[in-house]
This record gives sequence, structure tokens and C-alpha cells, in this order.
Amino acid sequence: MPDMEGFKVAKDYHIDTEFANNSKGFYVKGANNLDWGMKKHLANIFDKNSGNTVMFAFDHGYFMGSVSGLERLDLLIPKLMDYVDVLMCTRGALRTCVPPVGQKSIALRVSSGSSMLNNDLSHEVVAVDIQDTIRCNADCMAVQGFIGADGQLQSINNLSKVINEGIRYSIPTMGVVAVGKDMERTDRYFKLATRILAEIGVNIVKTYYCENFEEVAAACPVPIVVAGGKKLPENEALTMAYHAISEGAHGLDMGRNIFQSLHPVEMAEAIGKIVHEKATDKQAYEFYQDAIHK
Ligand code: 5RP
Repeated sequence: MPDMEGFKVAKDYHIDTEFANNSKGFYVKGANNLDWGMKKHLANIFDKNSGNTVMFAFDHGYFMGSVSGLERLDLLIPKLMDYVDVLMCTRGALRTCVPPVGQKSIALRVSSGSSMLNNDLSHEVVAVDIQDTIRCNADCMAVQGFIGADGQLQSINNLSKVINEGIRYSIPTMGVVAVGKDMERTDRYFKLATRILAEIGVNIVKTYYCENFEEVAAACPVPIVVAGGKKLPENEALTMAYHAISEGAHGLDMGRNIFQSLHPVEMAEAIGKIVHEKATDKQAYEFYQDAIHK
């Protein structure tokens, strides 16, 4: 029991001020009607000032094994983690190589089932259950969505199971639009796939940048984060990031364009300038050049 001496009588009820949470709503797209726990996880992912996020994807090993740039996660992640908002990884990488310190948000890869040795990567299962997701303190669960692929039914089944468990425990799901080798990378395809994932119930969609991206983003009722894709020269990757953000994406989820850069920290910072500080691609590239020549 605290000593009562010195306590002041409560009086600052601000009765003339509207209840802020109702009047302003919640800033993450499509999340206003979700419960507190879901909102809290989404707020851990999306910055409350910019509304956007820089995710760093290094879950490639879940089907590719060790890829160039990710050979030593134990060395790379501690160096990079302060420069991004979210770490997107497998539970194996998380438990072995991600220091459990700081405020980094975790996007946990929970689907699995293929390897580069398969001809068809579209057959996956839910590999991580909700209990382990909670133990990992993940802010969202990432599941591959193979729309139009051989494994579509299976992947919609995976997504639905994860979303159902996510709703039960208030953990958001991120649907990852997978583009198989036979699938077209057109806005027509991305409009179809992103919208299907959102209608199934994911809270975040990860997809690729494409022509008419504004329309893809407008038709998707949850935030889109754009994947980096294959390694590009830094200026081109920053231009893609700039277009994605100016045309309605709420973040980037980049892997190779960060970890295969000769200067991954500076590249992550330059992406952050676009995502959070409204920098143009030119400004971000100037920042990158200055930073690497310091
Ligand atoms: C696989 C993924 C990867 O995380 C994704 O491809 C991101 O990495 P990159 O920017 O290297 O493409 O979601 O489906």
C-alpha cells in the first residue's frame, strides 16, 4: 500500500475533449474494427507517424537453404536490426541468430513444405502452430498464397487456418503473394491475388510492385508491403521503393536488395528515408552515397 501523503485529487478528466480513439480511428488500413490486441501488433509493425514499415526479409532459407548474403545470419542480423522496423524470418533463424533484445517487431514465417529441388513450390503446410508463434512473440504470421497455382486449394486452406487461429489469439496474418514461374507479373494478376488474400482475411498483404500499382493498392482493403525481388542496382531498388510508397504501399519487405548490397546497413537506412521521411528516390540515393563514402 503506497503512502497516501502527497497524492493529489484527480481532476484532469478533460471532459470537453472528445474520446481520442473514437474520433481519430486507428491508422492502419482496414484495422479500425479489430480488437485491441490485433491493433497493438499492427502498431508494432507500422510506425504511428508515417503509417509505414521497413521489413527486412531473410526467410529465404525456408525453401532455398543458404543463399548468397545470408550465409551467416548470426553476423548479419545484429548489425542490421537497428535499421529496420520488422524482421521477417523463420523460427529457426529467430531462435538461433536474432538477439532477444530491443523493440524489433517479428513477422514469423509459418508456412513451409517446398525446396528449390521441387519443380512446383506451391504445396505447403502450416509448419508453425499458434502456440509457438506466441512463444516467439511474433507480431504477424506470414503465409504464402499461391493463387492460380497447382497448390492453390492447399494454400488457401493454410491461410484460412492461420487466420482463424490468429483471430482467436489476436495475432495478424500477412498473406504473401507467391509468383510461380508460370504466373504472369501483371497488375491484373496482382489485383486478383491481393484482393483474394484480403477477402480471405489477412491483415497485411505482401506483393510485388507492378504497372498500375495505385489500382492494386486502392482495391486492397489492408496495407500492402512490397517485396524487393531480385537484386537490382541500389538506385533502381530505391526508385522502385519510391514508386511503391508514393503509389499506395505502406512499406517495403526487402530481402536481397538489402542483404546482397555491398552496404546493407546504408541501404536499409536509405529505404527508411523513403518509407518514413517522404524522401524521393534521388534524395535516398544521395543519402546512400554520402553514407557509404563517410
Ligand atoms: C518468399 C518471401 C521472401 O521473404 C521474399 O521473396 C523477400 O525477399 P526478396 O526481397 O529477396 O524477394 O516472401 O516468398
